[in-house]
Amino acid sequence: MQPSDTPLRPVTFHPEIPAIRYIVQTRLPEEYRVDSIATVNSLVDAIKCLDIRGAPALGVAGAYGVALATLTSTTSDPEIFQQEVSAAADLLRSTRPTAVNLFYGINRVLTVVKQEKTITSARDRAVSEAENVADEDSRTCHAIGEHGRKVLPLSCRILTHCNAGALACSEWGTALGVIRSAVQAGTLVQVYACETRPLLQGARLTAWELAQDGIDVTVITDSMAASLMRKGMIDLVVVGADRITGDAVFNKIGTYMHAICAHAHEIPFYVAAPFSTFDEESVEADIIVEERSRDEIAYFGGRRTIPDTVNVYNPAFDATPVSLVTGIITEHGIFTLPDDLAEIRAIRKRSLQ
Ligand code: MRU
Repeated sequence: MQPSDTPLRPVTFHPEIPAIRYIVQTRLPEEYRVDSIATVNSLVDAIKCLDIRGAPALGVAGAYGVALATLTSTTSDPEIFQQEVSAAADLLRSTRPTAVNLFYGINRVLTVVKQEKTITSARDRAVSEAENVADEDSRTCHAIGEHGRKVLPLSCRILTHCNAGALACSEWGTALGVIRSAVQAGTLVQVYACETRPLLQGARLTAWELAQDGIDVTVITDSMAASLMRKGMIDLVVVGADRITGDAVFNKIGTYMHAICAHAHEIPFYVAAPFSTFDEESVEADIIVEERSRDEIAYFGGRRTIPDTVNVYNPAFDATPVSLVTGIITEHGIFTLPDDLAEIRAIRKRSLQ
């Protein structure tokens, strides 16, 4: 069990070792384990197998990964150093294609490294920029929570999908950040967490996080959501996002189904995400949706569930058209697309200056 008086941080950086420590998310809820890695290659493996996962947490891990690469490089030649760090950044970028935050975190640190002439100053800048990425994400999640809690009725039943909690961020969470902030402010919240096939991030992670905080949570299978909505058991839906283009929200596979069902039952459907999740100049067709291995679906609890000769299709994410989204809850307030595209662009431009 993790100590309850410290904020849940899934990934932390220890430059003095140097190492990255992370909660092994594939082991939850059976085991709360923190592992330590000392190389970029090990970080790549941890991201690919989803020991570290969730869009903002991937951004933080990517930022720490580039900083780790600066510290583990053994060359004394600044040019070779820059080549090695860029190669490490490329390797980290190749791990998962859909969550844009991964690229954001990597690029933030790589940009400052490239500005430096000496290895020592590049290392110093990399470490502090990586910590900035993590700390900003924590502050951002709390701001998302504050904006989001205001749209919730004083007592409500919320459906969420996958895990958009502290485990998926630096701390607090996006969708679960809204829920946490609401509970903190006295709102009576009952959460329905969809189990989230095939890797059960909702059942394993969302349920674990909320139970740790003493928040009322009930797990349902993904296919039960429509029926609960029809029975009047859901007041609103809040999910996270891996990438938000000008026309669609990419999130864990199954999110689109919930959005359609919410629309059919006139239930508000909110997305909670930081500005680092926006990719507003792209459109749905531009985005690569990660396809994961057959075995994630062909086996359940260690047992084969599909005949060996039968094909499996396993996209990790889907796209929900923005027309089905009631509002996107961000650290700068709540926006709708396409109406607020110009404002989103303007805020993004300002934050890059
Ligand atoms: O494959 P995962 O577990 O990385 O997918 C995570 C999700 O889809 C989350 O909902 C999303 O990253 C938002 S996290 C705040």
